[in-house]
Amino acid sequence: MTLLPIPARTVTYSEHGGPEVLRIEQLEVAAPAADEVRVRVVACGLNPVDAKLRAGRSRMQLPLPVRVGREFSGTVEAMGAAVTEFALGQQVFGSIPQGCAAEHLVAPAAVMAAVPKGLRLEQAAGLSLAGQTAWDALESQHLERGATIVVSAAAGGVGGILAQLAVARGMRVIGTASPANHDWLRSRRVEPVAYGEGLAARLAALAPEGITAVFDQSGAETIEAALELGVPVERINTIAADASVYGVRAVGRGPVHPPTLDALAALVVAGTIDLPIEAAYPLDEVRAAFEHLERGHLRGKIVLTIP
Ligand SMILES: NC(=O)c1ccc[n+]([C@@H]2O[C@H](COP(=O)([O-])OP(=O)(O)OC[C@H]3O[C@@H](n4cnc5c(N)ncnc54)[C@H](OP(=O)(O)O)[C@@H]3O)[C@@H](O)[C@H]2O)c1
Repeated sequence: MTLLPIPARTVTYSEHGGPEVLRIEQLEVAAPAADEVRVRVVACGLNPVDAKLRAGRSRMQLPLPVRVGREFSGTVEAMGAAVTEFALGQQVFGSIPQGCAAEHLVAPAAVMAAVPKGLRLEQAAGLSLAGQTAWDALESQHLERGATIVVSAAAGGVGGILAQLAVARGMRVIGTASPANHDWLRSRRVEPVAYGEGLAARLAALAPEGITAVFDQSGAETIEAALELGVPVERINTIAADASVYGVRAVGRGPVHPPTLDALAALVVAGTIDLPIEAAYPLDEVRAAFEHLERGHLRGKIVLTIP
């Protein structure tokens, strides 16, 4: 069967700015090449980087116009001849550099994984960027059971998954969050602590025996508290601040790794990781979705849905 390009309503912008620069346009999605899959998108996870890129505040550059959205879930609707790991109609999730906030997308089969039974598509849409970032950052520290770690923004997209992964690996996890998220953190066996002034003293009181490693998802404050408490720079990882200013590590997500996506999906299905959906917005309400994302106080993920 010859595959042809198809039209897809797609969230785009052609100038940098606030949510008002976002548009929904009918754009063409190419026919999949031999190693590619065309996906009917059902959900797109939004991430702070989408807002930073749109505002022109990201160190990463995408040439304008940009197609919005870097993580997706949906259904396989066409495949190139060399794709053997997926079937038509199968639910998949994955990540590409842009274009996930659209009715359809085309992506290499190598950047996606199958959605297992029991995983909601809205949750799957948050695993390939936020989830794998958490996984890769945690892995990079090679920590053992019994380690005491601090995770900032521990109710957020990355921090929430990282904190729960570490609990599952037998670590003691202290997570920073605003009080509204403390009960949820306790329910996930994460010890909550408020961020803000006095953080170092609160951490010292909670962990007088010392902190093994710190994973920062929110910026300077956590890093400075960690340094004040004598955590070695090679045991501090940030994905939210300029690591070179402090000489700390900056391990974020590596290349999309489907076995990691499989492992994360299995942990959500098993209930080991709770991935709350803070809110789901239809594609047409993408500006409202971004406004919500940019208020910065989420539990879990904001997703766009294209039912
Ligand atoms: N390098 C990479 O590979 C990579 C990948 C993904 C993300 N990132 C970056 O990592 C950061 C986090 O991403 P994300 O998706 O996890 O974001 P997110 O889900 O939007 O983070 C929301 C969380 O941030 C917390 N928060 C807000 N203000 C805070 C403060 N002053 N101190 C501590 N926590 C605060 C909120 O906690 P409360 O609601 O409890 O107030 C909320 O739970 C972003 O800067 C993002 O760009 C980097």
